[in-house]
Amino acid sequence: MALWSAQRPLESCRTPAHDSLLFLLLSFKWVLLSRAQTADTGQGVMTPRLQRTSQDLSWQRSEPSIILPRALQVTEKKACPSGKETHVVDENLAFYEEWELEACVDGALLTEQMDRVNAIPFTYQQLDIFKHKLDEFYPQGYPESLIQHLNYFFLEVTPHDIHKWNVTSLETVKSLLKVSKGRKMDAQVAALIARYLVGGGQLDKATLDTLASFHPTYLCFLSPEQLRSVQQDVVWTARPQDLDSCHPPQMNILYSKARIAFQNMSGSEYFARIKPFLGGASTEDLRALVPQNISMDIATFKTLRKEVLLPLTIAEVQKLLGPNLVELKVEEGNSPVRDWIFRQRQDDLDSLGLGLHGGIPNGYLVLDLNFREALSGGPHLLGPGPVLTAILTLLLALILN
Ligand SMILES: *[C@@H]1O[C@H](CO)[C@@H](O)[C@H](O)[C@H]1NC(C)=O
Ligand SMILES: *[C@@H]1O[C@H](CO)[C@@H](O)[C@H](O)[C@H]1NC(C)=O
Ligand SMILES: *[C@@H]1O[C@H](CO)[C@@H](O)[C@H](O)[C@H]1NC(C)=O
Repeated sequence: MALWSAQRPLESCRTPAHDSLLFLLLSFKWVLLSRAQTADTGQGVMTPRLQRTSQDLSWQRSEPSIILPRALQVTEKKACPSGKETHVVDENLAFYEEWELEACVDGALLTEQMDRVNAIPFTYQQLDIFKHKLDEFYPQGYPESLIQHLNYFFLEVTPHDIHKWNVTSLETVKSLLKVSKGRKMDAQVAALIARYLVGGGQLDKATLDTLASFHPTYLCFLSPEQLRSVQQDVVWTARPQDLDSCHPPQMNILYSKARIAFQNMSGSEYFARIKPFLGGASTEDLRALVPQNISMDIATFKTLRKEVLLPLTIAEVQKLLGPNLVELKVEEGNSPVRDWIFRQRQDDLDSLGLGLHGGIPNGYLVLDLNFREALSGGPHLLGPGPVLTAILTLLLALILN
């Protein structure tokens, strides 16, 4: 790939000396930059060498935001110096001081000529200024017409920016995913997918496959239907925090995938893998874990769904938690532990010797647990008081009649 600056007449550079200097500086930047595109096609064709440079220098990408505020503080109020006004994004802008860019470039120009912004090897600091100008120009978020043409400039935006966008075009999603590949853009990709799905967009199989190359921070944004089409491998890379905001129907599907993916493992190895997905497990799945001596930690126990946990007996829970059983005391006031305790006989709870309270009082003949829950206004930590009162009232009414 030839450097574009060698092919392209630089109209505004008059002297040969200036020309060579320009060439040198631009070549230098070209190597430094992680962004590499061909100017003429705008397609972002990369040579392997430039890709390598981009990875080696990836640490630089996290820094510019620290430099920016100071640069802006100094320059904010300055006007564009005469002779520097610009109506076109061209190579000359690469030689502007940061304050000059701040003063001479505006969001409308950048929007109109985003393709040119991507084609010229601006420094990170310069790109940060462009980003700042666009954010200023679109405080409510970029319009979709700009998003469609963002291309490599997408690497400048934050998840916070993306959450302001409307994205309705699958083509736009695909092009931005392509740009993001291999560039630590997982959070941005998750935000992009979220915005697209919120707007009613549908992901096709090819896009779901592309998504597999990103860290799956987007999982909980996908519908159960879409999750079904996600590649099985996704469960190998998903971290517990990636599943935090998933709802039960999503967890059911992820759990099934995980169970299949980890089926060859056994005992503690299997448990370590399946742990983040247990929010999708059934009572029977949990019962199958009981004889495995996995010593489930209380944090995982808390992620189990209430209706799945309730049918477990004291003996089963005791075996499931192993030495972690003592932690039940800490959680006795919180759902779902509270709800489970509420279903147990206090006698049996006492036999655990953990001082758990809230079970069914000794000597009670409980015919209908729902009756008890209804009386106490749900599973709160109420003693037998309200139940007793109600029964006494009933008896009294019967006697008086
Ligand atoms: C997104 O769409 C909503 C509803 O059509 C609109 O009110 C909002 O201004 C749009 N936001 C952007 C950044 O285009
Ligand atoms: C897992 O088990 C299946 C058969 O049940 C087998 O075909 C596969 O090779 C095993 N995979 C590993 C990683 O052991
Ligand atoms: C679990 O522990 C019990 C006793 O501590 C032992 O008899 C049993 O074999 C263990 N089961 C597994 C699957 O390790």
